[in-house]
Amino acid sequence: MAQTLVMEKFRKFQKSGVKHGDVLDVYKKWASTYDKDLDLIKHSSAHAGASALADELTRLQKPKNVRILDVAAGTGFCGLELKKRGFTNIDALDACQEMLNVAQSKDVYKSLICEDVGDKPLQIENDTYDALICVEGFIDGHIKCDALPHLLKVVKPGGTIVLTVREEFLHITAEFRKLDPLIVRLREEGMWEFIIRYITPNYFGEKDGVVYVYKRK
Ligand SMILES: C[S@@+](CC[C@H](N)C(=O)[O-])C[C@H]1O[C@@H](n2cnc3c(N)ncnc32)[C@H](O)[C@@H]1O
Repeated sequence: MAQTLVMEKFRKFQKSGVKHGDVLDVYKKWASTYDKDLDLIKHSSAHAGASALADELTRLQKPKNVRILDVAAGTGFCGLELKKRGFTNIDALDACQEMLNVAQSKDVYKSLICEDVGDKPLQIENDTYDALICVEGFIDGHIKCDALPHLLKVVKPGGTIVLTVREEFLHITAEFRKLDPLIVRLREEGMWEFIIRYITPNYFGEKDGVVYVYKRK
């Protein structure tokens, strides 16, 4: 029952047509109890994203102190999964200060950046990070596709980018039907290079997720 209520809460604001400001209001009010509620539902998104990034960085024989930016970090689920895998140099970025305050209490992140990612360059300098991860950031009312080129720019050439998205969004939402074509276009424009893309089960409840791993050019 509790699980159904939490899923229903997500469904109510993670839907087409929702306004970005309303989404941030939900997180602002939810931040202090978000982790407790999330523990009630089946979700493996942070685990899937962190595993993909850790596997790729290990494959590349990168040290554990590579500089990582966790975009839409929320309360830090993904950062915590990266910490469990030994990574020590992670910054969190999120548009909601209240979510970042919870993330800060977990002693995972070096810096916390409160920034609303949109269709303009980030406040972060280009070529700053060795890796960028964004788990559950590309959702209606959250981060839109047009932010992607700006996110890539803060990653150093040769750096790793991991994105995870709920698979159904790629088909049922107008915004995220644009994502795969955009990903291909950015590859054709020489902004990044394909490493791997795969489906991961039980990503959010019973729903599948898609994990994308790319290399910045
Ligand atoms: C589903 S939650 C957190 C997901 C988190 N990565 C995890 O693994 O638990 C989505 C987060 O995206 C943030 N967010 C939404 N739109 C954003 C934007 N345009 N720029 C930055 N953060 C945004 C919200 O504040 C919220 O904390």
